[in-house]
Amino acid sequence: MKFFIETIGCQMNVNDSEKIAVFLLEHGCVFTDKVEEADIVILNTCSVRFSAEHKAYSFLGRLKEHKEKKQDMIVAVVGCMAQYAYKEIKQRFGFVNFVLGAKRIDEFSKYISKYIDIKKTNPIEINKDKQFFKFVTIMRGCQNYCSYCIVPYVRGPEISLDYQDIVNEVDVLVKTGVKEVTLLGQNVNSYSNRGVNFTQLLQKISSQTEIENIRFMTNHPKDLSQDLIDEIAANSKICKHIHLPMQSASDNILEKMNRKYTYNQYEGLVDKIRSKIPDINITTDIIVGFPGETDADFEKTLNAVRKIRFGGIFGFKYSPRPKTVAYQLEDDISTEIKKQRLAVLLEESNLISKEINESYIGKIVDVLVENYNNKVCDGRNSQNIKIFFESEKSLIGKKVKVTVVKPLANSMFAELSI
Ligand code: 5AD
Ligand code: SF4
Repeated sequence: MKFFIETIGCQMNVNDSEKIAVFLLEHGCVFTDKVEEADIVILNTCSVRFSAEHKAYSFLGRLKEHKEKKQDMIVAVVGCMAQYAYKEIKQRFGFVNFVLGAKRIDEFSKYISKYIDIKKTNPIEINKDKQFFKFVTIMRGCQNYCSYCIVPYVRGPEISLDYQDIVNEVDVLVKTGVKEVTLLGQNVNSYSNRGVNFTQLLQKISSQTEIENIRFMTNHPKDLSQDLIDEIAANSKICKHIHLPMQSASDNILEKMNRKYTYNQYEGLVDKIRSKIPDINITTDIIVGFPGETDADFEKTLNAVRKIRFGGIFGFKYSPRPKTVAYQLEDDISTEIKKQRLAVLLEESNLISKEINESYIGKIVDVLVENYNNKVCDGRNSQNIKIFFESEKSLIGKKVKVTVVKPLANSMFAELSI
């Protein structure tokens, strides 16, 4: 049987989709990238913004035609949106065979077994290409209840996975050739399992496995500890990049967002991180157009962006989400103003990233090579900046030294140094 997976949303979803794919491959199915040829179609959904939901509904709309031509096609909708829009999906798209929410994604095998024979196992090697980079989920769910965010409702309360299982998982990955892991959780700073906190987890992973690079995301300013900062500074396996969502720099908006810090506290944290780890790259998330955001509030955010000089910004237009506290507030900032604010923010941020990248010209940096395309390799340096350089495919998975030649929009071009 052939299967097709469409994944919308964050790395957590990419990771869940990969697990589903591995399960299907192990049970005799083969992957296809042509949805019309598939016997099984899986749509892994996101609900963090309305646009993500819109994508899922459009996909299902297009899928309807294929299903009409191929009546025995099995269609599964999984993930965050499946968790709470279960009824609407079933009502609008009667052809969907089953809907499985993010909280129960681990039960995929049980659900799909109603349609395919999962007793059949496939001992054939799954990955022909070696994989060097892997995501490892260390936590599920979230209970921070930021007022705009649907995640706590669709993914449930925060659960930290067993630390020994995580260390073992990384160890097994390393033995299959993996060089870099990215640890995933909605707020890795509050990881806690059997007395082991996130810093201690990082220490265990780096001392008990031969992993070369460790990345993690995402962080919450209210929980990022001095211990963690010290560990990142001292541990050469941990990449020098922290994604630290700020969301806004107006205390009034931060309070309404239930973020539990003030702008001064955020800035203080950034200073603490930079004084201990001078070569750190700090990136962030910002929401524009939260209910009641005035020009003056937005100006504060813009000024903070100029002052802090983030390496990169993911900017979002506020999108009201059902069930959330902010859903009760009037979405009073027009789409036009949200768009304008986002454009101004991103223009400023791109200018800063470019200046930061320019400061790298002539410097030698280490890059773990990820891809090869048309004589050009690419990978990321410790700071998570994408770097391209001409070389050979055999470098994939290797750490090499390159000299930065030219900054590009959100990446850099370099030359291999000997
Ligand atoms: N509207 C816009 N952006 C949102 N995010 C989360 N919820 C919303 C929403 N309702 C953004 C936040 C978060 C990132 C993953 O998505 O900035 O950090
Ligand atoms: Fe959403 Fe806040 Fe949890 Fe992040 S920390 S997933 S923004 S509720």
